[in-house]
Amino acid sequence: MSQADGFDALLQEDRVFEPPAEFAAQANANDPGIYEEADRDHEGFWAKFASELEWSRPWDTVCEWTPPTVKWFLGGQINASVNCVDRHVRTARRNKAALIWEGEPGDRRTLTYWDLYQDVNRFANALRDLGVEKGDRVAVYLPMTPELPITLLACARIGAVHSVVFAGFSAESLRDRINDMQAKVVVTGDGGYRRGGVIPLKQITDDALDGAPSVESVVVMHREGLDADISMQDGRDHWYHDLMAKAAPRCDPQPMDSEDLLFTLYTSGTTGKPKGIAHATGGYLVGTYATSKWVFDLKEEDVFFCTADIGWVTGHSYLVYGPLANGATCVMYEGAPDTPHRGRFWEMVERYGVTVFYTAPTAIRAFMKWGTDIPAKFDMSTLRLLGTVGEPINPEAWMWYHANIGGARVPIVDTWWQTETGAICVAPLPGLVALKPGSATRPFPGIKPMVVNEQGEEVKVGGGYLVMKRPWPSMLRTIYGDHERYVKTYFGRWGPDVYVTGDGAKIDDDGYLWLLGRVDDVLNVSGHRVGTMEVESALVDHPDVAEAAVVGKPHEIKGQGIAAFVTLKEGVTPHDGTIGVLKQHVVTKIGAIARPDEIVLAADLPKTRSGKIMRRLLRDVAEGKALGDVTTLADPTVVAKLRDQYADKEG
Ligand code: PRX
Repeated sequence: MSQADGFDALLQEDRVFEPPAEFAAQANANDPGIYEEADRDHEGFWAKFASELEWSRPWDTVCEWTPPTVKWFLGGQINASVNCVDRHVRTARRNKAALIWEGEPGDRRTLTYWDLYQDVNRFANALRDLGVEKGDRVAVYLPMTPELPITLLACARIGAVHSVVFAGFSAESLRDRINDMQAKVVVTGDGGYRRGGVIPLKQITDDALDGAPSVESVVVMHREGLDADISMQDGRDHWYHDLMAKAAPRCDPQPMDSEDLLFTLYTSGTTGKPKGIAHATGGYLVGTYATSKWVFDLKEEDVFFCTADIGWVTGHSYLVYGPLANGATCVMYEGAPDTPHRGRFWEMVERYGVTVFYTAPTAIRAFMKWGTDIPAKFDMSTLRLLGTVGEPINPEAWMWYHANIGGARVPIVDTWWQTETGAICVAPLPGLVALKPGSATRPFPGIKPMVVNEQGEEVKVGGGYLVMKRPWPSMLRTIYGDHERYVKTYFGRWGPDVYVTGDGAKIDDDGYLWLLGRVDDVLNVSGHRVGTMEVESALVDHPDVAEAAVVGKPHEIKGQGIAAFVTLKEGVTPHDGTIGVLKQHVVTKIGAIARPDEIVLAADLPKTRSGKIMRRLLRDVAEGKALGDVTTLADPTVVAKLRDQYADKEG
């Protein structure tokens, strides 16, 4: 059976929710003709949004597409920090809250646009004082405190390329990324809080820097209230607050060519090490600005709470650049949704009067498990729009979210996009598009996804592979340092003008898109991408391990869990602690997000006669399914044995 045939196990979902009249009447996007108009002239469509931003030099050409190379707003010059901050301090927004922040221990800070402007200017100067110049890379390994968005905007101000590494990644993951980007500076902290514990960021950074010679300076933010035992290396390490105290208060923004890189962000693929997805300044800003304005319907009085960590792309696009370019108020938090209590998000919705709330299906499934009486305790009547992102949302979770968080009255925008796409690509415009629970509905105007079969032919109704046929401003420009990999990974299958998303999708009779998850060896664990190959490499790195194969398995909360099948080297006898040791080894190598949920120690792995591990069969074993075709196996008894072993383990 081919992958495409598998798409025919289609969802049966026929509930439809029309946009509430009251919402439609006030929506930013309220002209149904926009879809057709944007299709007819997508360049004109994007140029209109671009013209709402501030350019220090106007562009000459909207788009230059020489597949698979794309450029947007050529000749234009723009600075992202000016658009996110300076533009607003010149207006009545100067005193408006830009960031409302809550730390895990309960500390709170509100930064107005003016406060943000000052901190961004000072830190930009501090970075310049450390010798950071336009084009230099700055690695950012910070907890979720206001210094994180400040750092991003300070880099943007001087034209340094930031690359955030999620604070849950290991020293080795951090080192690999620093080396790949050849970072000159690392911005980190003495620690950050998570679920009552402290992440020792500086210690991890010190470990990572052993073997990262490009780094000249380390900036260490002190997390208030924390008494972390850290050491500072003379000449290399500087306290953030010391640099800020010394830095000049105003920093002239660096004019950036539209195509100059704004940031890179590493993400997992099917092969090799994570790749640095590179985004260009002008296009990225236009894409995040436009989608924030139309999908989240942001208005002057909105309070937008995106629960993502800035370590992932969602935090970049919808906690920093998109909403701040719109002059919105953003709510940001440190820690976890269940600490100090499981009503934390709802308490924050009530406390700050959140109007637009954006989270992930994995979180919604956890809320469902915790029960409806928790959100019921809070007044969430300010909410007027909900969003989800990161993985397909099951219709039950959608309905629960709608009823229990949205009070059965507010629209939900299910937003499909990727680190590579930079901004939302498929999502309803909430004032215009009727919703179907579980469907991301229609492409954003101007964007042209298509479902294709194995041959790359369009599937008008039915299942297949999701591709993109037309460039859009916020799409990635390259994989940092490896343009060939960019060409091969994203445009290698059906030609240089067809962007391959790696996702399967179904298109229904109404033209609605239903995203079906990854069709490659990338897992989606709690909305985060984990490459099976990375976990396998981490496992075989352990001296006791001979071979490892990793597959995904459905998980009630995480969406997908990680199942690993491992054979040990000859002469190694497993003991009670072996599985625990191997799980910990993966955490040490990659980070907690890659910890296998289960590891099966196998005598052998199922292989084809040519020696290839048959992951498909292992998936069937992990999912408890009837075994598929085993005729190509070198030894068909291997997989039967494994299945029995797996069943025993489950029992
Ligand atoms: O499989 C899709 C899934 O997340 C992948 C992208 O992951 P990442 O680059 O980490 O970015 C996540 C946040 C944008 C996609 O290839 N995905 C993301 N959003 C959705 C989704 N799957 C279904 N529905 C979504 N709304």
